[in-house]
Parts: sequence; structure tokens; C-alpha cells
Amino acid sequence: CGIIGYASARDDRPVLEVLSNGLSRLEYRGYDSAGVALAASEVSVYKREGEVTALEEQLPDAPVDALAGIGHTRWSTHGPPTDENAHPHTDCRDRVAVVHNGIVENYRELRAELEAAGHAFDSETDTEVIPHLIGAALEGGADADAAFRRAIERLEGSYAVAAVFRGCEAVYATRYRSPLVLGVDDRCALLASDVPAFLEYTDEVVYLEDGQFATIGPTGVEVRDRRGAPVDVSVETVDWNPEDAGKSGYEHYTLKEIHEQPRAVRQCLRGRPQPFEGSISIEELEDVPRPTEVQFAACGTSYHASLYAARLFRERGVRATAFLASEYDAAAVPIDEGTLVVGVTQSGETADTLRALRTANAVGARTLAVTNVVGSSAARETDRAMYVRAGPEIGVAATKTFTSQQVALAMLSSALTDDRSGEFVAALRALPDRIQSILDDSRAREIAAEYVGSDAYFFVGRGLAHPVALEGALKTKELTYEHAEGFAAGELKHGPLALVTPETPVIALVSGRANTERMLGTITEVRARGAPVVAVTDDPESVERRVDRVLRVPETHRRFFPILANVQLQLLAYWVANGLGRSIDKPRNLAKSVTVE
Ligand code: G6P
Repeated sequence: CGIIGYASARDDRPVLEVLSNGLSRLEYRGYDSAGVALAASEVSVYKREGEVTALEEQLPDAPVDALAGIGHTRWSTHGPPTDENAHPHTDCRDRVAVVHNGIVENYRELRAELEAAGHAFDSETDTEVIPHLIGAALEGGADADAAFRRAIERLEGSYAVAAVFRGCEAVYATRYRSPLVLGVDDRCALLASDVPAFLEYTDEVVYLEDGQFATIGPTGVEVRDRRGAPVDVSVETVDWNPEDAGKSGYEHYTLKEIHEQPRAVRQCLRGRPQPFEGSISIEELEDVPRPTEVQFAACGTSYHASLYAARLFRERGVRATAFLASEYDAAAVPIDEGTLVVGVTQSGETADTLRALRTANAVGARTLAVTNVVGSSAARETDRAMYVRAGPEIGVAATKTFTSQQVALAMLSSALTDDRSGEFVAALRALPDRIQSILDDSRAREIAAEYVGSDAYFFVGRGLAHPVALEGALKTKELTYEHAEGFAAGELKHGPLALVTPETPVIALVSGRANTERMLGTITEVRARGAPVVAVTDDPESVERRVDRVLRVPETHRRFFPILANVQLQLLAYWVANGLGRSIDKPRNLAKSVTVE
């Protein structure tokens, strides 16, 4: 879910406009319902099932007088997406409106207690207990600040909460294990789940810590700790460009982000490869002891990046395993002082990955987050963080962040094993140009047009290319809603071959530098069953006559073939989805950041 809050006392921008701009930017975090609350002499709430555009139709055309406001885009966890379950929620007498991201684990007890005291609930959400708790405290004589704190003290679980009160020109907010960042400048004060929501207004931000309370209002931003003592906060300037959060002429953010990959990789590399020494230097990790074992925990696309990374570590002689974060339990895996547990998470907020990292912290393991979001929960809860620096990614399906993760993890595997190779470093530095050349010449669009409407899409690769076969299938599922599977090429004959027909194109990752003959063997097997084969290859001469279509990638270091091949797979998935008219930036049923386990 996404939260935005805005206090306008010293600013001339209409509150509603700032909130609805913020909501459009936050929509990728959840989009099954949206709502806003405006505080003036009354609290007015507008909310609606569906996307932000559905809410906008319902909003008043004329300017609305308001001092402060909050907004929310929802991705359902408790209760289906309906108008009633949409946020904001209010107390019985509409004195306060609340938006919330996270889960109130003890909401059943709280609700029973409030209902027994006469509170009537309108929704099935866990969130609604919060305004009722605040309302009860107001009735007991507390002022807005005290009532807000008292309510928060009762919550168990994870939350980012923002509230506005009748007749009050401030927004009250707090967080615990859910993201919330404040935006400040001399004209306005904002808060949001993440920076792009308000980047068009300010690039000066304050990352709120767990357990801190913030008030944004006429005097700017005030942060206090749990006990109410003022906290000296540091204001940081983010170097994301507001343009980064727009579509820049592309039909979809996803396509724009695929095309941004050369820049994303350049940013990821900045200052890290040392061409003279043939080594990698990662500032954030300089004094980190060399691990004897690495355990990765990650979800979705980040898990595929982790599979790739684990192989790279193993190739360099370090034991390494990638775990699905939802299946990882540090207490059940042997861990010693040489073990490093690495959470790979674009958002830094994925609940399954955070839980995995917390289990690792709990057994005293050394932990590292590899993430795109500075100040994210993963970055803060681990011993160290390495940033992938891909810039904001709006498309729900990860594209440029995956490529940057692969590059970052390739560097990590080199840095933490003190590997030196001029060839590796030179190839790394050439990656942005290689990716650019794929984007300039790809035939993925025409090949996608030929195969739109197939029964299923199979992706096969071996060795380092296997994780990318899995990722190609995941991207195809996410964007096209069609059946797609990725396999280790050698496994095909042990079962999946039964699925192969002339209606199931097989996309084969064939590098001229590794496993070429064995991949050609797999291709022969599937063609014998009538399946059309699209080869993604850096060696078209060896492959051309054996397949139906070729997507070329430039030559590179053996270890980077999967990174380049994946760009073609992204384009293929994108153009198949485009041909089917899918909701590419916001695939059905998916959210970018899944903050529930
Ligand atoms: C969600 C997204 C996926 C993403 C996964 C992990 O499920 O829909 O695209 O790969 O979360 O996200 P993370 O932010 O932890 O990398």
C-alpha cells in the first residue's frame, strides 16, 4: 500500500492536487482502491474501489479548503477491495481520519474491546481499529497528539500510519517496520511511503526511524521519539530526478525502465570497478570480513538474481546458496562466524525477506542487504547495505532493478573473494554499451508478434543462464498472464518435455562460451516435438540453422551473458503482453512491494 500526506499552511498548492498527484505516483504499491481525507473545520473523506482514476472522478471539481490531507492506495490484505474497506478510515464521529500500511496483528482483540464499548465499525479492515482507538482517547480528553500516541501504543504488528484531525492543520504520523519518509522544504511538508510520491515538490528528505513520531504542519516537520522527546533529524538530499518518475514518452513505465538500463548499470558501477588493479571496490563494504559461506534470501525476481549470485560465489570457491526468503529460517541452517546472510530486495521492504533477515540477526549471523532503496527497512536492519542505485522503478514487474542487482551481485562476488581479473572488470565497464546495442537493434518486437497467442512459453538455460531462464518465464507470467515456465535445459527430458508441442515456443539461452553443444542437444529434443525455438545467443553462427528465430546479444565475458540475454527476454515478454493488450505496468493481482508475509 502507499501513503501520502501533506500540510499546506505555508503553501499555495491545493491539498487535493498534491494528494492526487502523489497517489498516481504511489499506485504501483497497490491499486485495488484509493482514498483521501481532507482536514478543515470538518474531516471529509473520498474513497473508492478501483484505480486512482476512479477516485479522481469522485473528487470535487471546485477547490476545497483544507489545511492538511492524507491519501492512500490499497492492496488488500484484510477484506476485499470495496469502497468501505478503502482507506482513509474514520472514528464514529468523523473527528479523525487514518491511513495505514502494514498489518495490525492484534486487531481482533482491539476491535472486540472497542465494539464492547459501543464503537460501530464500517469495514472489515484491521486498520479501522486505529481511528476508533484515537476517537476513544479524544473522548477521554486527550488532545490530537496524545490521542494518536495512545492509539499507536496499543498496536502490535507493522505499520506506517498517518492521521488528520478535524480543525487541525497538521498530519500526525509514525512507523514501525513499514516505510515512511518525510519531505521538507521552506514552503511545504509532506510524507509518503516513498520518495517518488513527492519528488516533484521537494528532494529534501528525512527518513523516519521505527518508533519515531512525526508531525508535519505549519512549523514544518517535527520528529519525536516514543517518549515524546524531540529528535534531531538529518535532512538528506536525494539525487533522483523528478523526470525519472515520469514516462518520458514511452507507452509504459516498464518499457521506459527497460530502456533506462544502460544508465542504471552505469550508476550501479560508478566508482566500483578498479581498472588498474582489475578489482572491485565497494565503499559500503570495505572492512567487511571475507565470508567462508554466503546464504542469500530473496523473493521473486530478486531470488533469481540471488541464484545467479550464488553460482558466481561458488565458481570462486565460496560455498553459497540462494533460498526463497519465505522458506528461509536461519535457525534451521548451519551458520557460523564465517557465514554472511544476504537479503536481496529491490524495495528493501518485502516482508518475507525482512523476516528471513530478522531470523538471521536473531541467531547472530552477519547480515547484508543488497537493495535499491536507501534507508529502507532491509538496509537499516542489517549490519551493512550495498545499494544497487538503479533509480526508482515504477513498473510492478522488476526490470532495471534486476539487471542492476545482477551487476551489483557480480561485483559483490568479486569484491568479497578478492578476485582480480582485468578481463572481468573491463567487461563489466562495457556492459552499459552492450545493453544499449541490444535495445537499439532488438528484433524482440517482431518475434513476439509471431508468437502471441501461444499455449505456453518455455525458457531453458544451463549453468549461469538457468536463473535467467526462470526470470524470463516469471516476467512473461507477470506481464502477459500466459503460462510460462523456466527450466534447467537438462531437466526438460525428465518431465517437462511432455508439455512441449508445436504451440509452445521454447526460448533457449545459448552462449557460445558455455555449454553450447549441450544446449544444441536440448534444442534438437524440443524441435523433434514440433516446438518452434527462439535462440537468445551471442553465437548466431553456431545456432542459426538449428532454430527458428534468433535474438542476438553482443559478445561479453562468460559471466555476463545471462545479464545481456535477459534484456532480450524482457523485451520479448513486454511485446507479447503489449500484443495482448495487458495492463503492463500494473499486472492484475500483483503489487510491487509485498509488505505482508
Ligand atoms: C513482489 C513483486 C516482484 C518482486 C518481489 C520481490 O512480489 O511483484 O516483482 O520481485 O516482490 O521484491 P523485492 O522488492 O524484495 O525485490
